This record gives sequence, structure tokens and C-alpha cells, in this order.
Amino acid sequence: MSITNFPSSANPSPLNTSTTDKSLTKVTVPALAEMKRQGKPISALTAYDYATSRLVDEAGVDLILVGDSLAMVVLGHENTLAVTVDEMLHHTRAVRRAVRRALVVADMPFGSYHGSVAEGLANAVRFVKEAGAEAVKIEGPRVELVQALTAAEIPVVGHLGLTPQSVHRMGGYRVQARTAETIVQLKADAHALAEAGAGLIVLEGIPREVAAEITGSLPIPTIGIGAGPDCDGQILVFHDMMNLTFAPAAKFVRRYADASSLLRAAIEHYREAVEHRAFPSDEESYHLSEAVRKEVNTAHEAPISIQALHKA
Ligand code: KIV
Repeated sequence: MSITNFPSSANPSPLNTSTTDKSLTKVTVPALAEMKRQGKPISALTAYDYATSRLVDEAGVDLILVGDSLAMVVLGHENTLAVTVDEMLHHTRAVRRAVRRALVVADMPFGSYHGSVAEGLANAVRFVKEAGAEAVKIEGPRVELVQALTAAEIPVVGHLGLTPQSVHRMGGYRVQARTAETIVQLKADAHALAEAGAGLIVLEGIPREVAAEITGSLPIPTIGIGAGPDCDGQILVFHDMMNLTFAPAAKFVRRYADASSLLRAAIEHYREAVEHRAFPSDEESYHLSEAVRKEVNTAHEAPISIQALHKA
């Protein structure tokens, strides 16, 4: 068996990225770069488990980020800092099993790349080797680490602007790059990451004008969240767009569904049905065949109930 899969009509080129053609052509980092060149918007969402990743992938979203936001929206932590490499690997594996088309990006959690470059590289390798990630995302302008990951054949997604792992340094979740000095720095950081080999950059929580300027001047795609409509693509946290966060939404979040109300109503309906013995119905029950019922009944003097059968 060959490990090299050359493009053919059965396995078309990854550059076949028509947004109306949501065939199973696998999305890759070079394919996303080509989308930028062609001016095609890139859709991205976070996902953390098998079921929602299948829905996101089958809906044709281009990139799925197993975000460390799972610390908050899935595990109930106050911020993203507590989630571990092993927890992120566990969720990345579940997502990987579900996804056939989208690019699967794993977020490197806080502490997993903040020491030496060698340690960051070793942790990134785990995401690729043990969980099937196709790229890793790291926060901040870590140029040396991006160079090392790129040299090790691991595609990198950078993340600049409001970087949630820096919550304590920033003094909260605040919009970044609002002054001339910080805008210049952000732009320089974005270019340094691109030159170091990053394949994409997430721009979070920055003014629209700054994101537009960076997007226009960078050779690689930008994916915005709270960065306005001029980025090459957009990403939202799945639980934000579905109203599953139990908290007021940030300004940039659009609620596309109210899963909270939908699920709450269904759960209450189920509880009431159980309490009123309306679930399960006879149609939702298994039954003995007539022959077995007769056999069981003739073996006993009186017809026996199902409960008695269980005791026998
Ligand atoms: O963890 C996450 O969900 C993210 C997105 C906000 C980009 O990093």
C-alpha cells in the first residue's frame, strides 16, 4: 500500500476549494491559503466532541478548532487556564474521529508551550501523533516556537490580539490594539509569525480597522473573532452561537440557535412523561412472541406477569 495519495479525479486536488462544492475534498492549510488568494471566505467553528463535530463537518465548515475554550464551555472552569494537555488530547481524538472534511486544529493549552521550545515541540507532536490534529494553535508572538514547529512539519495557527491565556496579564478580557503603539506592535507580530511559517492567524478582540489592515497586508489567512468582517475567515465558539454558555454574549457573538431553550424544553417534557408514566409507551416496549408467551404460560399453572418472569 502506498502512503502517497496523488491527486486524481477520485481524490481531487486540495486546491479544489469552491465554497459551493462541499464535497469530501479534505481541507488543508495550503487549501485555506488558496481560498485567501481567491477571495473566498473561510468558515471556522470550535467543537469538542464527536456529535457536534460531525454536525459542523457535515455542514461544510472549513476549519474545526478544538479550542481550549472547552475549559469554560464544556468543563465549567472560570477561564481557559486549567485545562491540561491530556484533557485537550482526549477531546481532540473525539473530534478527529468525527471529521472527514474540515481541517482539525488543536489548541495547545496554557503551560504546554510557555517553557522551552523543546517542550512546546514535544507537546505539539503529541497532538499530531496521539490525537490526529492537523495543525496546532498557539497564542502570542512565539516566533522561535513557530519556526521549530514548522521545521518539524507541524502546521501552526497563530493567535494574536485578545489572547485568553493572558487574562491575568491583560487584567481581564479587553479589546486589544486600541492605541497607535499597540497597533504597530500587533502588525509586526502578525508579520513575524507569518515569516516564521505560521499557516493562519486568529485575530481576536481587536478593532475592525486594525484587523482589516493586517489581513490586507499578510500573505496568510486571518480568522477573526470579535475582529470585524474584513478578516479572511470567521470563527465562533460553538456554545456561544448556540446559546449554551449560561452567560451574556459578547458583542461579537451572533446567536444562530437557542439550543438552551430547545434542550431544556425537551428535558422537562421527558421528566414529566416519566413522572406521569407516559414514557415509555407499549409501542416503545419489547414484547414476547405469542409462541414464547404460550410456552411460558403452559409451564406454569397460572399466566405469569413479566415481573414474575424476571424473578424466575
Ligand atoms: O479556544 C478557543 O475557542 C479559541 C477561539 C476563541 C479562537 O481560541
